[in-house]
Amino acid sequence: MNTFNPPGQSLQHPETLRWVGDADGHVLLIEQTRLPAEFVELEIKTTEEMIDAIVRLAVRGAPALGVAGAYGVCLALRGLTDRESIDRALESAAPSLRNARPTAVNLAAMVDRMLTVFNRHGDSGATEVRKALLSEAQQIHQEDKDLCSAIGRAGASIIEDGETVLTHCNAGALATGGSGTALAVLYEAWRQGRRFQVIADETRPLLQGARLTSWELARAGIPVTVIADGAAGHLMAKGEINRVITGSDRVAGNGDAANKIGTYGAAVLAHRHQIPFYIAAPSTTFDFELSSGNEIPIEERSGQELWQVVSASIDRCEGPLSIPAGVEFRNPAFDVTPAGLISGWITEAGLIKPPFTELKSNISDLLTR
Ligand code: MRU
Repeated sequence: MNTFNPPGQSLQHPETLRWVGDADGHVLLIEQTRLPAEFVELEIKTTEEMIDAIVRLAVRGAPALGVAGAYGVCLALRGLTDRESIDRALESAAPSLRNARPTAVNLAAMVDRMLTVFNRHGDSGATEVRKALLSEAQQIHQEDKDLCSAIGRAGASIIEDGETVLTHCNAGALATGGSGTALAVLYEAWRQGRRFQVIADETRPLLQGARLTSWELARAGIPVTVIADGAAGHLMAKGEINRVITGSDRVAGNGDAANKIGTYGAAVLAHRHQIPFYIAAPSTTFDFELSSGNEIPIEERSGQELWQVVSASIDRCEGPLSIPAGVEFRNPAFDVTPAGLISGWITEAGLIKPPFTELKSNISDLLTR
């Protein structure tokens, strides 16, 4: 573990996923459900395995899901040598990949971008079309890296020396193909020499803050303290938090932003205590087809997630130890923070506000290449 990261030095971020080999190759991705206890990389060789990894959150975070979706399309064509089987494979793989998780727009948007390239190669042979698709997926990955770096540069100056920043869920390298969104801002401010500390909400129920954000930041040598989600208001009331920055899974045209469940609560609390609240996201996370956050589809996950982690930590027990038998569960995985609670949107086009004119040409470039 690297716990020393001097100013000016770039940090080596964990590589969330990568393609190995040529068009017959495969994906290696960090199995995030095992972090921080174990660092394991999974070999993903089929679209079904990729969909399973996405649904289980082995790979997660909006921009990383976009890259995973693009590579997932390439996996569907692995080993296929005639055009007819390629067309059939894509027809069946694309819809299930694109719908594997509904809230992060990046997943569907990047699968659609791959389909646009595919349709452009209507007359090409099997080898040519597969090469073109792999090269598009690798380009999507590289663009995501560049977007993360640009977000870091755009937001770093808002972080002041000595302050305490709260973040929710994980919007770091593990959630992207690069250095992250919210955490990219922190990494860049740290690299520039500012010193601050981070409070990571644990992020019930799957603990992305406690398990992943704290792992990433500790590895980078940035001081981080994990709190229970419900402790944020208390710390804000005591004046112990100066700023909140989170990522987003989808930003609607009016600036309403969906993010991990609990983000809305943190934003309301920040507003109550006059603490600036920022969303950091690339243009690929904006969905200008939606006029407001009410239209963002919110994933509901299995209620088992509510008790599994608690039970495992209390007694290694299989059953719902923390919830009495017969009681119903509900597990919405995301919520929407209304634009009125957001102080600024940190994007590759800078720190901006609705109607996001600066961003609109970037997005059409990135989605319709
Ligand atoms: O369910 P997850 O872990 O995929 O949720 C991820 C988040 O909510 C992130 O904050 C969001 O995708 C932004 S990642 C840069």
